[in-house]
Amino acid sequence: MNWLKTFVQLDKRSHDRKSFDCEEDEPNIFFQERAAKYMELHLSATWVLPATTAIHGKYPVPVQLIAQMGVHKEEQGKGFGKITLVKALQRLRVITKQLPATAVVVDCLNDEFSQFYERYGFEYLYQHDGRKRLFLPTKKLEYL
Ligand SMILES: CC(C)(COP(=O)(O)OP(=O)(O)OC[C@H]1O[C@@H](n2cnc3c(N)ncnc32)[C@H](O)[C@@H]1OP(=O)(O)O)[C@@H](O)C(=O)NCCC(=O)NCCS
Repeated sequence: MNWLKTFVQLDKRSHDRKSFDCEEDEPNIFFQERAAKYMELHLSATWVLPATTAIHGKYPVPVQLIAQMGVHKEEQGKGFGKITLVKALQRLRVITKQLPATAVVVDCLNDEFSQFYERYGFEYLYQHDGRKRLFLPTKKLEYL
């Protein structure tokens, strides 16, 4: 199955948000309670791999921010995190053509999770609100 083609925009009528649990409060609360509301308000957009994965990306200029990302605890360790990140970066590559940005930025919940992003080329930028902020130069999206 080509997972990269199966992500869809969050639809609160058909996606069960309440049962999502990646074992981290912040992404859980975001996905369960705020993602659909923020989409209605056009504050952000959320794409999901139904029944398994969720990702939230919003993209202020001049950088694009991956704000929340989580894989359901029962599906972790199976490659869905990598698939979700690649899919998000591919989507941001398309958006960059209309909204020029210099980098993709992510704020890590903790040091352990920063290692996940560093595997895919993200580099340390600075501490932001007590979190490690990482970036990936936009030009690197061309290689996806
Ligand atoms: C972090 C998270 C998204 C990873 O998703 P996942 O589906 O378990 O990851 P994958 O199975 O796709 O792993 C891809 C690679 O990253 C590695 N990896 C996974 N979690 C990692 C971590 N916390 N630190 C470092 N490497 C990690 C895997 O070993 C794998 O390496 P490989 O390709 O060499 O085998 C997931 O654990 C999660 O939802 N955590 C809770 C929420 C969260 O932390 N969100 C990010 C906040 S900054």
